[in-house]
Amino acid sequence: MQGFTPETSFGPEVAALQEAHVRGDEDACADFLAGLASGRAALEFAIGAGRVALPLSRRGVRVDGIELSQSMVDVLRTRPGGAELDVRVGDMATTSMDRRYGLVYLVYNTIFNILTQDGQVECFENAARHLDHDGAFVIEAAVPSAWLPIHSYTRPERVEADAVTLDVCSYDPATQVLDENHVRIAADGIRFAPIACRLAWPSELDLMARIAGLELVERWGGWQRQPYTGNDAHVSIYAKA
Ligand SMILES: C[S@@+](CC[C@H](N)C(=O)[O-])C[C@H]1O[C@@H](n2cnc3c(N)ncnc32)[C@H](O)[C@@H]1O
Repeated sequence: MQGFTPETSFGPEVAALQEAHVRGDEDACADFLAGLASGRAALEFAIGAGRVALPLSRRGVRVDGIELSQSMVDVLRTRPGGAELDVRVGDMATTSMDRRYGLVYLVYNTIFNILTQDGQVECFENAARHLDHDGAFVIEAAVPSAWLPIHSYTRPERVEADAVTLDVCSYDPATQVLDENHVRIAADGIRFAPIACRLAWPSELDLMARIAGLELVERWGGWQRQPYTGNDAHVSIYAKA
């Protein structure tokens, strides 16, 4: 999307909303990850405002983080336990914590926030560099076909008497990049809320893992280890090959 920068898409306004943001899967996710960490330190790629890192650290796991947005880190720092976490501001595809972990994890579809295939491969390579020889890299993401129809469209998202919000979407099957803008048109002006994602199917993620020297060891349909059906989302565990 011309003019879109991932660095600024989680700026101060979006970050301020994160303090109260829950998805509902935090406890199940933290239980799953604490079991895998089994007493060892964990690294969250794209730690955000600590939605998962904070409940995980309350379960006794040391959690470090890498995060692109200083605004998200600022919000994390204000939350109970958030000031104590070791977080570096940078790109999860390239930033180093200069140590290894028993667990590296990347949740909430955030692998899609890297907008090129090369960048996503680099992210797997960076995860592998941070893993102990017997460590695990966990990815949780949607199966892109669950977001069907994946094509270009404009649809009304909210219609009010004095304002309308349109969801304007354009998808390029060659790059797998989905550009989306939520456009609110009202008497007081026009507001844009853009987001771009590069979708990747589980099979492509498995190939990225192989390029990074990892292999798929488990794939589940959710944090309760529900069977993976291919319909909705997946929780995938990779280990060194
Ligand atoms: C959907 S939020 C998820 C935050 C957190 N992991 C959670 O589950 O609540 C996406 C986060 O990814 C961060 N992010 C996007 N691209 C990134 C990158 N290349 N490296 C590090 N962080 C990134 C954003 O700044 C934002 O905080």
